[in-house]
Amino acid sequence: MSVRDVRYLGDPVLREKCQEVEAFDTDVRALVGDLLETMYAEDGIGLAAPQIGVPLRVFVYDVRDDEIEPGVLVNPRIVEATGKQKEVEGCLSIPGLDEVVERSGHVVVEGLDGAGEPVRVEAEGLLSRCLQHECDHLDGVLFIDRVSPLKRRMLLKKWSKMDESVR
Ligand code: NI
Repeated sequence: MSVRDVRYLGDPVLREKCQEVEAFDTDVRALVGDLLETMYAEDGIGLAAPQIGVPLRVFVYDVRDDEIEPGVLVNPRIVEATGKQKEVEGCLSIPGLDEVVERSGHVVVEGLDGAGEPVRVEAEGLLSRCLQHECDHLDGVLFIDRVSPLKRRMLLKKWSKMDESVR
């Protein structure tokens, strides 16, 4: 396992529609290890494969809650989404920016775990937000795409002015 460089807004890999994982080989296991190590090194609560330059449908999460197990989701699908929540959201690929984003309140996500076994995760609150944010990454969608056009323009302007050294 190793800590990988996080890709930042502007890197085309963040806009790719990622491919499904077909086989749970050593490459996929290594990818999951790298995602976990990089997420913890960056102090994030979730990290998707395209964020380390790999356009595959894999992400890891750990919302740092003693009652919520960290996890790995491969080929995830949101099968239920109900209610609404509005909270401030950020992203390791757009450091220094955050904005209020409206998301579903409760979601059920189905997919495979890091060993290729089927899993079903029910979530609300922060975990629900995190799972929706990470699923978006696999379709090339970032949180700045889910705010009003005016706020998006402001965020992009701020991003373009930010010093390279903070990225
Ligand atoms: Ni993100």
